[in-house]
Amino acid sequence: MSKAKLRTVNLSKRYKSGKAEVWALREVNLEIKKGEFLVIIGPSGAGKSTLLHLLGALDSPSSGKVFLDKLNISQISASQRAEIRRKKVGFVFQFYHLLPEFTALENVMLPTRVAGCRLRLARGKAKKLLEKLGLENRANHRPSELSGGEQQRVAIARALINEPEILLCDEPTGNLDSQTGERIVSILEGLNKEGRTLVIVSHEQKIAQRAGRLLKMEDGGIL
Ligand SMILES: Nc1ncnc2c1ncn2[C@@H]1O[C@H](COP(=O)(O)OP(=O)(O)OP(=O)(O)O)[C@@H](O)[C@H]1O
Ligand SMILES: [Mg+2]
Repeated sequence: MSKAKLRTVNLSKRYKSGKAEVWALREVNLEIKKGEFLVIIGPSGAGKSTLLHLLGALDSPSSGKVFLDKLNISQISASQRAEIRRKKVGFVFQFYHLLPEFTALENVMLPTRVAGCRLRLARGKAKKLLEKLGLENRANHRPSELSGGEQQRVAIARALINEPEILLCDEPTGNLDSQTGERIVSILEGLNKEGRTLVIVSHEQKIAQRAGRLLKMEDGGIL
């Protein structure tokens, strides 16, 4: 029996647009252990984001399987996938993906409200997370009133609100200066030390150096 938190078996993803066909992933076999800190690097178009999306049930593969614990999340319905994302996975993206019309606090609360958490409890949890990330004074700011690093910290708080076991980050520092990026990586590292499984896709040498394990991708495969 595998003790992996996430495991892929011959995982492939093909995109078709018109007559053109792209194999974004080709038969990837990968095991990620519980509590691991994995960094994935590789050139543009290598399939890094595609892999991350499949690991987090954001998308489904063309063939092959993804297991989260013992559950095969590659063959479940869209609504089951949404539930897995809500309960088990936190995503952090390069461009934060915050909702512009909501405040920092409201952005952080949103996933837990969607999951059915009551307003007062959700607000309390969100406030605590903003505090943990040093943003207690920015709770009522909208994203346009926040710096890039602050927006990314809001996005991390949002990713944490449903207490996921797994954090998947796609170029989380790609849009930040190096000092701010450093701070974000330290935060993510801390979250890994608290026991969360952490996967970061990154181009940055500094992040790669801090990984528990480094994985290189090229042309839809792992080298
Ligand atoms: N929705 C899509 N439709 C068609 N092709 C796609 C789609 N998404 C990705 N691809 C193709 O799949 C391949 C892998 O894309 P992916 O986004 O996973 O690369 P990446 O390693 O994340 O690159 P980058 O470092 O630039 O973000 C690329 O060749 C890309 O053009
Ligand atoms: Mg990408």
